[in-house]
Amino acid sequence: MKLTVDEKIKNVPHYPKAMMYGFEDGWTILSSNENPFPPSPKVISAVLDALPTLNRYPGGEAELKAAIAASYSLEAGQVLIGNGSNELIEMCLKAMQHPTKNGVIISEPSFAFYQIAAQVYGFEVKKVPVTDMSVDLTKLKDLIDEKTRLIFLNNPLNPTGTIFEEKAFDEFVRSIPDDILIVVDEAYAEFAENTSFPQSIQYINSFPVIVLRTFSKAYGLAGLRVGYGLGEASLMSFLERTKQPFSVNTIALIAARTALSDKDYLKKILENNKKGKQFFYKTLEGLSLEYVPTEANFFLIKVGPEAGTITKKLFDKEVLVRFMGAYGLSDYIRVTIGTMEENTRFIEVLKKLL
Ligand SMILES: Cc1ncc(COP(=O)(O)O)c(C=O)c1O
Repeated sequence: MKLTVDEKIKNVPHYPKAMMYGFEDGWTILSSNENPFPPSPKVISAVLDALPTLNRYPGGEAELKAAIAASYSLEAGQVLIGNGSNELIEMCLKAMQHPTKNGVIISEPSFAFYQIAAQVYGFEVKKVPVTDMSVDLTKLKDLIDEKTRLIFLNNPLNPTGTIFEEKAFDEFVRSIPDDILIVVDEAYAEFAENTSFPQSIQYINSFPVIVLRTFSKAYGLAGLRVGYGLGEASLMSFLERTKQPFSVNTIALIAARTALSDKDYLKKILENNKKGKQFFYKTLEGLSLEYVPTEANFFLIKVGPEAGTITKKLFDKEVLVRFMGAYGLSDYIRVTIGTMEENTRFIEVLKKLL
């Protein structure tokens, strides 16, 4: 008997959505820039169908590469799949290890894993402070020296949500020596609305540029760990040598391929994000609270010197956000845009605390 998607989903036992964090249902989790919605029903259906094949090692990486390549009009050899984009960050570092040319440049603040992974693989990390909460490509270029091996750019930038634009990126890429690998981490690119967001993928054939994307955010598959990299074919084949075989599991491969084809789901997610953004901007302006306008699914709110205490008090009310003290922004909290219900609950609790 063939079940419909709805029937299949109905037969899956219900687990409280926040169980993996050790929290009960009802918590408002706006701390890790996750997608607030479950994966698309088409993804859940494809995953359920794949369960009986789990006695086999994963197949389907070639199919996912082909589907991603087709969506960008690239060749399959220009795509690398990883266990989250975190694995691709590691692959870049592993492949580029060198006894003396061991410098990495990152923006500060930026996604914490760049520094952690770079140090694990023996690189020396130099950090360039943001200017007006944005990656400063000019200052970054000034820090390049004979040891520089890799540059990690993050666009939109986690944790500020800002972007650098096409023109600045173009000038930057053209000015960098071609023995330096530029990794452009675009984990949140799908959310960017600014039309000047760089077309970075157009640079991969002519410059040592790798673009990283993920299924963890807009596609709602953070729990499955699938990311991908796009770059010039011989570079990608070189990086692939550092990858553990079968690092992306069967279910993740099938889910990602299905998610990529479900355009309606992506549209719904992006619309929710846009609506959430407008709600937050209007509400925070009404409360005279400063915020950093965002191109991502999270943003910074300046709540003042009590930001750490406010984060704790929000936690006591079962609302999770991220205090930015560890990122040198001790007046700020970072808030993920959730469902409208979650956004409203966060604002209600915040208002009482202020
Ligand atoms: C900027 C950035 N890059 C990469 C990642 C890692 O994503 P993935 O889940 O694909 O490993 C994150 C996760 O939050 C992120 O914020």
